[in-house]
Amino acid sequence: MRTSWPQLMEEISACEKCRLCETRTNVVPGEGDPHAKLMFIGEGPGRDEDLQGRPFVGRSGELLTRMIRAIGLEREQVYICNVVKCRPPQNRNPQPDEAAACLNYLRAQVGLVRPKVVALLGKVACRYALQQEISVMREHGNWYERKGIWFMPTYHPSALLREPSLKRASWDDFQKIRDKLREIEAAGEEHGE
Ligand code: URA
Ligand code: SF4
Repeated sequence: MRTSWPQLMEEISACEKCRLCETRTNVVPGEGDPHAKLMFIGEGPGRDEDLQGRPFVGRSGELLTRMIRAIGLEREQVYICNVVKCRPPQNRNPQPDEAAACLNYLRAQVGLVRPKVVALLGKVACRYALQQEISVMREHGNWYERKGIWFMPTYHPSALLREPSLKRASWDDFQKIRDKLREIEAAGEEHGE
């Protein structure tokens, strides 16, 4: 699927491909640097996101923003989006048919951003981005290479809010992400990119 940013954003904003369109207030397509080196994929919009039409702006979002800053980046320098672009009622997990209906948008976003590194926030992001069942507890911090892009499962910020003792492991993951970006940048400079 070949598309441009304006075309894609327009299509997502008007989408009625699954039942989540019936209960949403706003579509939450995603935001950030359209050519970011680092991308974050969450699960789906929550209440605050649904009200504002922007990803990760509630409590989880505040924590994510702090974690991004902690590795020396601003939110505007990364790209942030979700598996589904409309809020599942009561914040339930997206159902398989909903995720399937929405997944082409995520693929198009990855194709347009062409990030070097993708942080997968939680099990649902891993399931649909890697098409694999992953235990985040066991697999967080490991790299999965797909078509030249490095994907890392890590904790969803809402898990860190529920269970602050996981923050230490999450911080280790974020440092690995920072190191990987540095490594890729250094290799690029060697090749005159
Ligand atoms: N949780 C998510 O998975 N995504 C958001 O955008 C907000 C909370
Ligand atoms: Fe369309 Fe995705 Fe929203 Fe479903 S969740 S209506 S597929 S944009």
